[in-house]
Amino acid sequence: MQKRSPRIAVVPGDGIGVEVIAEGVRVLKHLAPDLELEHFDLGADRYLRDGVTLPDDVFMRWRDEFDAIFLGALGDPRVPSNVHAKEILLGSRFRYDLYINQRPIRLLDARKCPLKGKGPSDVDIMVFRENTEGLYTAVGGVLKKDTPDEVAQEACVVTRKGVERIIRAAFEWADANGKRRVCMSDKSNAMRNVGQLWQKVFRIVAAEYPHIEASHLYVDVLAMELVRAPERFEVIVTGNLFGDIITDLGAILQGGIGLACSGNIHPGQLGLFEPVHGSAPDIAGQGKANPMATFLTAGMMLANLGRPELEVRIIEAVRVLLLADQTTPELGGTLTTSQVTDALLEQLG
Ligand code: IPM
Ligand code: MG
Repeated sequence: MQKRSPRIAVVPGDGIGVEVIAEGVRVLKHLAPDLELEHFDLGADRYLRDGVTLPDDVFMRWRDEFDAIFLGALGDPRVPSNVHAKEILLGSRFRYDLYINQRPIRLLDARKCPLKGKGPSDVDIMVFRENTEGLYTAVGGVLKKDTPDEVAQEACVVTRKGVERIIRAAFEWADANGKRRVCMSDKSNAMRNVGQLWQKVFRIVAAEYPHIEASHLYVDVLAMELVRAPERFEVIVTGNLFGDIITDLGAILQGGIGLACSGNIHPGQLGLFEPVHGSAPDIAGQGKANPMATFLTAGMMLANLGRPELEVRIIEAVRVLLLADQTTPELGGTLTTSQVTDALLEQLG
């Protein structure tokens, strides 16, 4: 029996998300014309129009009928609470239990790295960020609101299962991709309870992969070491908030947030793929947005749909464009958003 074509829910979202996703869709149609793409009108406009963020029927259709969500960016000055972004992005991560947030830090063009003397072989790291617990669970509360005695609490909620599955995902990925070093990062010198659980589970899982070197760094030291000697790292596994921060640092090491891609994954289930950058309302609609992070995100999505060779082709084509300065102005080129796509499609052949 022939397997049906993968079905992708396309959510351009807000600001430059709309522009970069349109370009990403051109690349998807070129490389994988069999994909079934369905667009969903979700984001700030929709929220302002009818109060809808992520409706239940859409949530269930995605879960039951789709293989991936291809998301642009969410965030709009007209929605200062950012409630739609929280409910669509964090809502999908939590409700679909997308426990792996996989974010490569991969330098393609040495000239784009802000570190002196570092090239592509020095900056090639895969970060596994835990995506469903930690400081993101919204467990906590406030007391005596709007009084001088106001109290606020945000709990760091961590489960043994949650820690184990993200650590295992990091080792499995390392094993499958010929990597020999996994570094776990936490803050167990200050956060004792959560830290001890991470430490214990890391030791237990690491013992199952004796051929892979397992190391540990406190997250403050990791931040320092990523700048001093990124070549030390192949795979990093860490909690939700630390992963958020470290991958923004990593985005700059690879040439900027315009090149950073990510996948929110639960193996065997629907995944959500998004460029790491935001909606950048200040440059929206001007053709200035860099679509490369979206191309690389499309690549990750295709790899997760079982077509890793297409991801390799996208990465290599982006590399060629970078080396030829065929980029948007923030990376030194003179092309508009859609001209970058034209160049990429030509490169892909
Ligand atoms: C990211 C973003 C989100 C996060 C925000 C928008 C809640 O920074 O995807 O890295 O913190 O996870
Ligand atoms: Mg972030």
